[in-house]
Amino acid sequence: MEGRDADPPDLADVVGQAEARLALEIAAAGAHHMFLVGPPGAGKSMLAERLPGLLPTLDTAQALEVTAIASLAGRVTRFDTLCRRPPFVAPHHGASMAAIIGGGSGMVTPGAITQAHRGVLFLDEAPEFRSHVLQALRQPMESGTVVVARAAGRFRYPCRFQLVLAANPCPCGFGFGKGDRCQCSIVRRRSYAAKLAGPLLDRVDLQVLVPVPSRAALLGPPGESSAVVAARVRVARSIAAERWSGSEYAVNGEVPGAVLRSRRFRLALPTTVDIDRSVDLGTLSLRGYDRCLRVAWTVADLAGRTVPTRDDVGLALSLRQQQAVAA
Ligand SMILES: Nc1ncnc2c1ncn2[C@@H]1O[C@H](COP(=O)(O)OP(=O)(O)OP(=O)(O)O)[C@@H](O)[C@H]1O
Ligand SMILES: [Mg+2]
Ligand SMILES: [Zn+2]
Repeated sequence: MEGRDADPPDLADVVGQAEARLALEIAAAGAHHMFLVGPPGAGKSMLAERLPGLLPTLDTAQALEVTAIASLAGRVTRFDTLCRRPPFVAPHHGASMAAIIGGGSGMVTPGAITQAHRGVLFLDEAPEFRSHVLQALRQPMESGTVVVARAAGRFRYPCRFQLVLAANPCPCGFGFGKGDRCQCSIVRRRSYAAKLAGPLLDRVDLQVLVPVPSRAALLGPPGESSAVVAARVRVARSIAAERWSGSEYAVNGEVPGAVLRSRRFRLALPTTVDIDRSVDLGTLSLRGYDRCLRVAWTVADLAGRTVPTRDDVGLALSLRQQQAVAA
């Protein structure tokens, strides 16, 4: 029997924010992890909550996994339905290691990363999370499983989630654009940014600035609905699935850079000229280079192109502003 989960919020509610909406669509199509940076009230939480509504519904095998986990976590109220929608899990930044990763002193319950399996894990105000909790996300993100060891034994849970991080540009929230109203010292801004920098952000393909929408934008016409965007996402995903069929990957966000740089998928030199130059100039790391390639393939899939163009790569480059959080 089918689950009758409540309808997720609709993307049509988000006015303006063209770039962030595009990034959200790309994130959905390629299962790319994403980082939204902007001042308070810009709509970061609104956007993140709308990602599950853009993702394909779960097939029966996936729905069984998700329903079993929800049941373990005590979140199932009916036993005649399957959870067909990708879950959306948004733990509070004060949450403990056990709450996020799994475990606990008595019973071993699945953590937020497992409850977000096949769905979205949203860390709002990400720099406020405990550092060791943020760093503990890295290994499960890589492997898609987490092992929790307790006196009662070792428990292995799945945790293939899509990560969405949100943050203000600085502790006061106003260090944005010209940053005139920002009250933070350089030291405080640096330590705020350092919380996420490095290994965690290295795995996040999309880093997007979300400015406060202008009043004109708020009065403008509604944006496209989730249903319209989700239809494009479905097509893009099936193109990608065909390309990766026979490999261990299903979505672009999972494909290692080495594969994208291999002879079979290597892009022509004129296509990568801009990111090649950025690497030569030292403004783009090699990891950042691979992230651009991954995103460029998703942009091409969404546009129905068999191979990314120079513009697709350029768009990918513009959607990963490393300086998003002022360091
Ligand atoms: N683009 C938008 N379209 C429509 N409403 C918006 C938009 N951006 C913000 N709002 C309104 O502002 C409210 C706050 O948005 P939201 O909570 O998503 O901001 P935020 O960026 O997450 O802020 P914070 O940093 O404080 O968490 C929303 O509930 C909504 O009413
Ligand atoms: Mg918010
Ligand atoms: Zn500030």
